[in-house]
Amino acid sequence: MWALCFGALVIISFTYWVYRWRNPRCNGKLPPGSMGLPLLGETIQFFASNPSSDIPPFVKERMKRYGPIFRTNLVGRPVVVSTDPDLNYFIFQQEGQLFQSWYPDTFTEIFGRQNVGSLHGFMYKYLKNMVLNLFGPESLKKMLPEIQQAASSRLELWSRQDTVELKEATASMIFDLTAKKLISYDQENSSENLRDNFVAFMQGLISFPLEVPGTAYHKCLQGRRKAMKMLKNLLHERRANPRKHQSDFFDFVLEELKKEGSILTEEIALDLMFVLLFASFETTSLAITMAIKFLSDHPLVLKQLTEEHEAILKNRENADSGISWKEYKSMTFTFQFINETVRLANIVPVIFRKVLREIQFKGYTIPAGWAVMVCPPAVHLNHKKYEDPLAFNPWRWEGPEINGASKHFMAFGGGMRFCVGTDFTKVQMAVFLHCLVTKYRWQAIKGGNIVRTPGLQFPNGYHVKIMEKQTRFIST
Ligand code: HEM
Ligand SMILES: *[C@@H]1O[C@H](CO)[C@@H](O)[C@H](O)[C@H]1NC(C)=O
Ligand SMILES: *[C@@H]1O[C@H](CO)[C@@H](O)[C@H](O)[C@H]1NC(C)=O
Repeated sequence: MWALCFGALVIISFTYWVYRWRNPRCNGKLPPGSMGLPLLGETIQFFASNPSSDIPPFVKERMKRYGPIFRTNLVGRPVVVSTDPDLNYFIFQQEGQLFQSWYPDTFTEIFGRQNVGSLHGFMYKYLKNMVLNLFGPESLKKMLPEIQQAASSRLELWSRQDTVELKEATASMIFDLTAKKLISYDQENSSENLRDNFVAFMQGLISFPLEVPGTAYHKCLQGRRKAMKMLKNLLHERRANPRKHQSDFFDFVLEELKKEGSILTEEIALDLMFVLLFASFETTSLAITMAIKFLSDHPLVLKQLTEEHEAILKNRENADSGISWKEYKSMTFTFQFINETVRLANIVPVIFRKVLREIQFKGYTIPAGWAVMVCPPAVHLNHKKYEDPLAFNPWRWEGPEINGASKHFMAFGGGMRFCVGTDFTKVQMAVFLHCLVTKYRWQAIKGGNIVRTPGLQFPNGYHVKIMEKQTRFIST
């Protein structure tokens, strides 16, 4: 009898629990959608990789079934997915008020607890200013010759090799440049290779979080630990031998650490360093790789891009001088090309936020404590805003600015947390493209299809042969 009662009780509470799982408490109307299986939610469907360059099937199917705003459950957390331009805009504008940056726990574990993505309020603004200082327009102007030097010497090196794996090669170029800017790290002067540790870190990033020796996840965490140790040693070395002129991020950090009552700690500075290095070389190298792939696939685009850059060379008074800031600013088609590249590449496929207070939006209620997920691919591939959205067409950016920029273009995020590296990325891409199209031609050898997952997207083994052009100028 007791056993029966107990059994009934278990069944009733289990049923109730499942019912609650499927129908979370809410003071209003939740967006439509399914919470998936108890505990698992729809996590497995979400992580399926996407073989097309279209909106991930997970999102696309649900948009069709439920509309632009729907609910789901990922990694144990109720989530509202937004593909609605107005809601996205609202989320970006209300940063810090109604929403707060949030990433799944495994991310926090991997990237460090104090990383810039999870820092809030005052501390956050303060760190952001440090970064902006380093990659603002004034610094970039001064950096032009250095960036050009890095691009042309790499291209020269690649042209002497049989083939290069583009993603790997560009990542190495961008990493070296960024590490030099941030911490004056020069691989040639170091016994250990900092980037190797980042590569190990990278490879385990989208793995099952099981920390047992031998697993990719283990290697990932180990890569991070080693990289952090190197960064720490570099910082200590610098502290022991301070430099007269503040010139990189380390100098800045050391200066701040010395100040009485500074809120910056060594830990925070190192975590930030790690995130910055990672955020900068992975994204930009992917953008450059995709740019080259789009150029290979679209000869007319390559032609116009080449013409723009050869015209710059022709109009230059001193042929040997490097790219000037004025020339950089005049690269109209190049900027259209860059916008189109990052639109279609969807380098950052998901942006997460936590809901701080209950939100009413378009008749739906989103309870406090839920997560919201903004889905940039759904915005960038919206056929109502971009005609024939899957086509690579830089000319679509011509003429009057596509208005409401942040509503329909969010490759670099939006609102207060807009990517601080946007200008740095654009300069690097433009300068690299300038060196590439004026002096080299290339041939794709193999690979190049893109592997897309909700975490990261990367071209699979894209090998090209880079050759110096016979004639400098294409006669028109
Ligand atoms: C093609 C290249 C890049 C793309 C597509 C990209 C994309 C993004 C996006 C979408 C965000 C917003 C994330 C969010 O709202 O949660 C972001 C933030 C950020 N990016 Fe980038 N990024 C690129 C290059 C860079 C570079 C070169 C740097 C380093 C200098 C950088 C540093 C950062 C930092 C520090 C943040 C956090 C800003 C904040 O939370 O306020 N990014 N990026
Ligand atoms: C690396 O070593 C070379 C030669 O010793 C030196 O000129 C250069 O400044 C060093 N680079 C850094 C970042 O310390
Ligand atoms: C590229 O996109 C940004 C952001 O929407 C916009 O401000 C800029 O004008 C665009 N560039 C071109 C050349 O259309």
